[in-house]
Amino acid sequence: MVQSQWPYWLPLRADLRGISPYGAPQIEGVTALNTNENPFPLPSEVVAAMTERLGSVIGNLNRYPDRDAISLRGKLAHYITQTTGVEVTSENIWAANGSNEILQTLFLSCGGADHLALGFTPSYSVHPLIAQITKTPWFAGSRDEDFAIDITKAKKLVREKSPHLVFVTTPNNPSGTSTPIADLKELAEATGSVGGLLVVDEAYAEFSSEPSAVTLLADFPHVVVVRTMSKAFAFAGARTGYLVAKPAVIAASLVARLPYHLSSLTQTAAETALEFTPAMQAEIQVLISERERVAAALIEVGFRVVPSSANFLLFSGFKGEPSAIWQAFLDRGVLIRDIGLRGFLRVSIGTPAENEQFIAALREIAE
Ligand SMILES: Cc1ncc(COP(=O)(O)O)c(C=O)c1O
Repeated sequence: MVQSQWPYWLPLRADLRGISPYGAPQIEGVTALNTNENPFPLPSEVVAAMTERLGSVIGNLNRYPDRDAISLRGKLAHYITQTTGVEVTSENIWAANGSNEILQTLFLSCGGADHLALGFTPSYSVHPLIAQITKTPWFAGSRDEDFAIDITKAKKLVREKSPHLVFVTTPNNPSGTSTPIADLKELAEATGSVGGLLVVDEAYAEFSSEPSAVTLLADFPHVVVVRTMSKAFAFAGARTGYLVAKPAVIAASLVARLPYHLSSLTQTAAETALEFTPAMQAEIQVLISERERVAAALIEVGFRVVPSSANFLLFSGFKGEPSAIWQAFLDRGVLIRDIGLRGFLRVSIGTPAENEQFIAALREIAE
């Protein structure tokens, strides 16, 4: 609904009247490579185990779930300890319905009208969107032409603006580029010196070989790492995200969360998926090698590809407007993403067969 169409009787906040709901097109019957999902369904052994466990949970749906998801947080802590080498416990983890809810909880607890949030764009557009919904002023810092954060400039900006929340997405969406851990460390120092929280959104961390910002936690208590099971665990439909931080951040999240926000179905499904971590990690390796194959195909037709450590690629160098090329792919049954960045389009890495379809369409379009 656009601004002028809101009914006179609806007491909608004036500052929300001009906002469109977030969302990428959902089109039936096409190959969807537009929302950075994991293209593989859960392995059959995971489905079998989950079906069995969920069966017993369904018998208890008259009861509220564990309000603080202690068991799930313990399993997430184990996964983080195993994959980053940093010893964490359930006291360092908070879980919610997707990392978007985690981000919202951080804004609710540490944002607000008198708290500034700062990010480096282009990046995940939901960060400024939640800032707006929670009435948190947002300052958009910039990235270089190659989408890197100039860390000297970034530190200067942080010292000038004294933000309460600083967001870095790494690997970054939409570029796929990573911020080196040494740069994050410098930014953590600068953010700490002005009394802010450095929120590192690592939604795509499992596709990258850069060390996680979890490794900074011991030295920087104000670092918060946001993770999701949507991508690496092929779990987007189940909605499970989490953060890794010092216990004080978890205590703040408890204040801002809704009671019983995470259903017992979600908690059980997520716990079961985590027990199958090795199977999921094998799929990540397939996606990484497919990413390199698709990148090579884009380069072969003369397009430019931004080096990616995520499960998607940002590309440019095509003739014509992104919207026309986006349509040309759709006409060939492949839905990619026009992220509104001049001269660029983004494609998520699919199954090998889906990638073949993308490459075939690409070759026709580039002719
Ligand atoms: C950078 C980034 N953060 C967070 C999310 C949200 O993921 P979810 O809410 O599914 O955990 C996404 C989703 O695409 C993302 O790209």
